[in-house]
Amino acid sequence: MLQQMTLAEKLGQLTMISLGGPPTGPVADPATLADVAAGHVGSVLNLVGRDRIATAQTLARSTRLGIPLVFSLDVVHGYRTIFPVPIGEAAAFDPALWQETAQAAAAEARREGIHLTFAPMLDIARDPRWGRIVEGPGEDPWLAARFARAKVDGFQGADLAAAGTLAATAKHFVAYGAAIAGRDYASAAVSAGSLAEVYLPPFRAAVEAGVAAIMPAFSDIDGIPMTAHAALIAGRLRHDWGFDGVVISDWDAIGQLVAHGVAADLAEAAALALNAGVDIDMVSGAYRRGLPEALDRGLVEPEAIDAAVLRVLALKERLGLFEAEAGPAAAAGPPASTDAAGRRALARHAAERGTVLLHDRSGLLPVGSPRKIAVIGPFGRDRGGGADRIGPWAGLGEPDRAPSLPTALRARFPEAEILSKAGVDGRRPGRRGIAGAVAAARAADLVLLCLGEPADWSGEAASRAEPGLPGDQAALAEAIFALGRPTVLILTGGRPLIAPTVIDRAGAALMAWFGGSEIAAGLARILAGDAAAGGRLPVSWPRSPGQLPVFFGERPSGRPYDPDNPFTSHYLDLPNAPQFPFGHGGTPGAFALSGLSVTPEAVGPTGTLSVAVIVANAAARADEAVIFVFIQALKALPNRPVLELRAVERVALAPGETQRLTIPLSAAALDRLDDGAGPEPGRYAVRVGLDAERSRHLVAEVMLGAG
Ligand code: NOJ
Repeated sequence: MLQQMTLAEKLGQLTMISLGGPPTGPVADPATLADVAAGHVGSVLNLVGRDRIATAQTLARSTRLGIPLVFSLDVVHGYRTIFPVPIGEAAAFDPALWQETAQAAAAEARREGIHLTFAPMLDIARDPRWGRIVEGPGEDPWLAARFARAKVDGFQGADLAAAGTLAATAKHFVAYGAAIAGRDYASAAVSAGSLAEVYLPPFRAAVEAGVAAIMPAFSDIDGIPMTAHAALIAGRLRHDWGFDGVVISDWDAIGQLVAHGVAADLAEAAALALNAGVDIDMVSGAYRRGLPEALDRGLVEPEAIDAAVLRVLALKERLGLFEAEAGPAAAAGPPASTDAAGRRALARHAAERGTVLLHDRSGLLPVGSPRKIAVIGPFGRDRGGGADRIGPWAGLGEPDRAPSLPTALRARFPEAEILSKAGVDGRRPGRRGIAGAVAAARAADLVLLCLGEPADWSGEAASRAEPGLPGDQAALAEAIFALGRPTVLILTGGRPLIAPTVIDRAGAALMAWFGGSEIAAGLARILAGDAAAGGRLPVSWPRSPGQLPVFFGERPSGRPYDPDNPFTSHYLDLPNAPQFPFGHGGTPGAFALSGLSVTPEAVGPTGTLSVAVIVANAAARADEAVIFVFIQALKALPNRPVLELRAVERVALAPGETQRLTIPLSAAALDRLDDGAGPEPGRYAVRVGLDAERSRHLVAEVMLGAG
């Protein structure tokens, strides 16, 4: 094939154009179906609808070489059936669920002609000012690596040519979440050590799982934009890890190398990206317009172009596109309606499992049989507001098909009267509606106070310097709390929302994230006690933006905080600890851990430890405990974080039940997460708890021998 191709046809294969959808940046190179007909396009994003896709594919197949197009889209947390946003799904700590929802999304999207998704996003995020924290699995690299494997397996299945699969793209390589001060598109502030041990490991896991594509981040590390980062793309990714899939630039990112100040013009920008190992140019036009000149100027070798084209053709082969008859129908699978009910049930299950009970100070859950329920707040409206339930990157999910909380409550509490009043706006100040909301709440025997941030205040280009409750929501909350009615706060959002006083003052508080198509039904079941709020926080929940970044995996200080010694690491005006630690959630006081033993006490580098712990459910209802196993290397150079997550187990317990749980932990798990030389011999603490708060952990020590 390669020998028959002209330069323009080769560059066409390296060119991805957008044919629809809201652009997520400038469109420097507007391309159309005429470019497809000319054979100058290899892949398309944002074109949806079977017929439109089939038309474009027919055009591509009618070109001189007849090479089919790859159709791609951000199928991030669902295509038509929308699951919780990734941070909300991460809260379920359930790899089987992560895989299942990806599989369901892939089935819906592939059937309608999509081949490739720009997911999973694997950016570790420790600063909720950064809006894209919503799109990833949270603050921890070990968890993100598990998430990566589950999502890649779920989207891709065993065979990308099979119906119901999507090629996955692990993004944004790498350290995009370390944007300075949480401002999207800013330079990444990252040390070599944390790059290796925190930001890279989830991508290595995706590569090991066979991910088809990687997307470099918009950001730079130490002045080298990731789109031009030869050491990390050609070096780490391709050479060291053996990645042989395609690297797809982010939106216009190759053209933006000029604005980054590393290229003088499009030819230089194209050369930098190609030489770094970027195969596909998403919408900047730099490859088709800049590479011919880059060749003339000797900035690139023709072989580099050929190698990229071969990788693109290999992806098309892997997707079975050369075998397909015409259009997407060949990979269509069963009609969309066949399992729609099953997918909605899965969405409800995921919503219940991801919702986090932040506290239940007043013991309000389950709520019993209230006669009058007032749903107060801008995120509990009876009509509209669906976009804030399904969240950003909701694919083709229809907001109107995500029932509101009042609707779901009417179905679950048919005897109760349900009133709903927004009171204030979810984004702008204005207090005129507060009096009406207070009047409605006064008449109710249960108040559900639905506050949060709107979906478009979360995600790309949605950084917030003060990620709390926008507008006058706090004033509404104060007015409602002043009534003294039993009040459950239900938060909607894509990040931990910094609103410590409002959260504390509620009788109980739930974080529902942007919980997807079935979040309202899930919440109604949680309130009724049909289901537990199964989520645990995959991120530390800060008290103040002044603490940021806040995360459990800090390195030890030479002066760790000691309340009796002022010359230790602390703030004068705030505690060091977040409002809620990583892992927090679940029915308060329900579970207790005891009797930790880790055996054998000495182990060689190829051995396995057995971590045994007794878990008791003191509550009057069946529930699932989530047990976290952390390690701590007690001496290492460079030193290691004070806590490193290495295992998470969900255990179902009947009321009053006690179980002895045994978790195998290989000695290899004592290693750093980098590509290093194996764990250093020495003493390690194994710490087991229900969250990352160290003072509550059970601790045992083991000795790792040199082998
Ligand atoms: C820009 C975003 O950064 C990326 O995550 C996304 O996949 C592309 N736009 C395409 O929509």
